[in-house]
Amino acid sequence: MTQLQAAHQTPAGGTGATHATNALYGGKGTRRITVRDIATAKERGEKWPMLTAYDAMTASVFDEAGIPVILVGDSAGNCHLGYESTVPVTLDEMTMLSAAVVRGTGRALVVGDLPFGSYQEGPVQALRSATRLVKEAGVGAVKLEGGERSHRQIELLVESGIPVMAHIGLTPQSVNSMGYRVQGRGEEAAQQLLRDAKAVQDAGAFAVVLELVPAELAAEVTRMLQIATVGIGAGPETDAQVLVWTDMLGLTGGRMPKFVKQYANLREVMGNAAKAFAEDVTGGTFPAEEHSVH
Ligand code: KIV
Repeated sequence: MTQLQAAHQTPAGGTGATHATNALYGGKGTRRITVRDIATAKERGEKWPMLTAYDAMTASVFDEAGIPVILVGDSAGNCHLGYESTVPVTLDEMTMLSAAVVRGTGRALVVGDLPFGSYQEGPVQALRSATRLVKEAGVGAVKLEGGERSHRQIELLVESGIPVMAHIGLTPQSVNSMGYRVQGRGEEAAQQLLRDAKAVQDAGAFAVVLELVPAELAAEVTRMLQIATVGIGAGPETDAQVLVWTDMLGLTGGRMPKFVKQYANLREVMGNAAKAFAEDVTGGTFPAEEHSVH
């Protein structure tokens, strides 16, 4: 039996009815999702969700909700560590955050982001950095930015047994040269995106994030590739969708990009709870008798 057939027979989601239609989302499986499950989902035309997480507790909520892939994104820079962008994030920080997310999950495939400066020197540096995320944090895969420009890094990691999720289109680590603009608009840029997508697939990536690219182009890439596409601001046709969790749950302050859908307003919930606590303390109503020990 091939590994792919085995994955068909024992979906990580278990044996419930949901899994007849979607093996990746929604189950309470007893083993971790693997990249083979992702390949199977592509073959079956299943769509799946991915969320970021940067700590054990948040990751455990998403894992229990059945989110099959959790990305410890270097968006931790802006969304968790208080930096202006992803650029300052270090490999030590990513290793610490990834280890926490792995500890908080039992089913999700945890993907750790390689931060800026940890793989651009070349394949050997990429392997050294990815090895830390795999050995010290326990991630099941790593992500790195770049298409044609990163294909040698992807090749060596995959040859070494480390699954790679690539990331093309808008690549935030290049904000200083690229800005935060839609990518792939116009014939030349679209052709480059198609070449990047093909290059990461040929190098052995198991999936590719398409960030901020026109929906029609993302749909074309998704039809062209045998590996999964994961969209963020890339329209509805990609195989998977990812959102940054603090955006999705309304914790991030300020204006949100158009592609973000907010499913809750945690900023308001938490702010109101903090004010209620402060008022109870200053008004002398907390702790009450039931919160006191004698
Ligand atoms: O760092 C991150 O969270 C990401 C996602 C936006 C794909 O790269």
